[in-house]
Amino acid sequence: MATINDNYLKLKAGYLFPEIARRVNAFAQANPDAKIIKLGIGDVTEPLPEACRTAMIKAVEEMGDRATFQGYGPEQGYAWLREKIAAQDFQARGCEVDASEIFISDGSKCDTGNILDIFGNDNIIAVTDPVYPVYVDTNVMAGNTGAANDKGEFEGLVYLPITAENNFTAEIPSQKVDLIYLCFPNNPTGAVATKEHLKAWVDYARANGSIIFFDAAYEAYITDPEIPHSIYEIEGARECAIEFRSFSKNAGFTGTRCALTVVPKNLTAKAADGSDVELWKLWNRRQSTKFNGVSYIVQRGAEAVYSEEGKAQIKELVNFYLENAKIICKKLTDAGLGVFGGENAPYVWVKTPHALSSWDFFDKLLHTCNVVGTPGSGFGAAGEGYFRISAFNSRENVEEAMKRITDRFRS
Ligand code: MLT
Repeated sequence: MATINDNYLKLKAGYLFPEIARRVNAFAQANPDAKIIKLGIGDVTEPLPEACRTAMIKAVEEMGDRATFQGYGPEQGYAWLREKIAAQDFQARGCEVDASEIFISDGSKCDTGNILDIFGNDNIIAVTDPVYPVYVDTNVMAGNTGAANDKGEFEGLVYLPITAENNFTAEIPSQKVDLIYLCFPNNPTGAVATKEHLKAWVDYARANGSIIFFDAAYEAYITDPEIPHSIYEIEGARECAIEFRSFSKNAGFTGTRCALTVVPKNLTAKAADGSDVELWKLWNRRQSTKFNGVSYIVQRGAEAVYSEEGKAQIKELVNFYLENAKIICKKLTDAGLGVFGGENAPYVWVKTPHALSSWDFFDKLLHTCNVVGTPGSGFGAAGEGYFRISAFNSRENVEEAMKRITDRFRS
């Protein structure tokens, strides 16, 4: 008799965003005339930059010519893309990252989940609360946790609360943990980490032999020049951190799919016999076995992000969404709501008005304003009483959504 991975039965019913989509679809079916504005999932709305499109069209033509046709690419990604990333995203900021340490992939969501393949099941794992739900759910699937309690917290995980009191940056734990997920600029709160904060984490990880999973998917949104874009800007991070980056939110590749993970060659963790094993080798083995790379066409599109036109176009795109975030923050603040984030991130973290629960506010907003956001409790127990609003939409829709919300919830 075939059996299942019982760990899946520990998960809450549905992944957060499909669950939101289910509720929105049900509402839309019952109210076909409602003009619903979606500021829930952080999915981009504006067209791909011209530089990327032009490069992809050229790549399609190359695929149609025997002389330039490409079959399987290198599993780690083409060197011409990895070299540009190493030089412009890392070395230009003083980070010692070599092109050979970069693995091109089809998404940070997949990579932050798949990375668990190369780690043991006996690690003590820390996540912030609230947190991007993928980090938690993939640990549940991998069997790294026990069951969830009534609040949705899984036994065996160490939850580090992030609150307005600690500027949504977790305190360094007093206990020893082996794997730590950090996301800055933060999804869902929009908070950023200073160099000092990241240094404290790097010092902790080095002292305890821990590995930091640093998700920098939103680094392009950092406007404050003092805020680090990469964990490798911190001395010693090469000895304790893996970094995840994405082309989804800077170049609008959510539907095109391209991302990257950096695994420094000197980074090690312990085997059962106590020996030190290079994580780069394991990740390379994992990727070359289970992954066949991102298409040539898409990698050419990603490469164009690093051209002069590409850089100017993605800056414009990011600034567009940041202006949306500014509008959201201003309108909601003026209406008397408690607002966080949105300055160095495309997410605005809002205290729900009238002490409504996150899901009650979600339902009210959907039913009375026809606006969709994301309930804070969907990101963890400490997100209860908060609500995330994404800045990814057209200007017109953002302005209209803010008008509807503030007309209804002005306090
Ligand atoms: C979100 O809304 O949190 C994002 O869409 C996350 C993601 O990129 O998967």
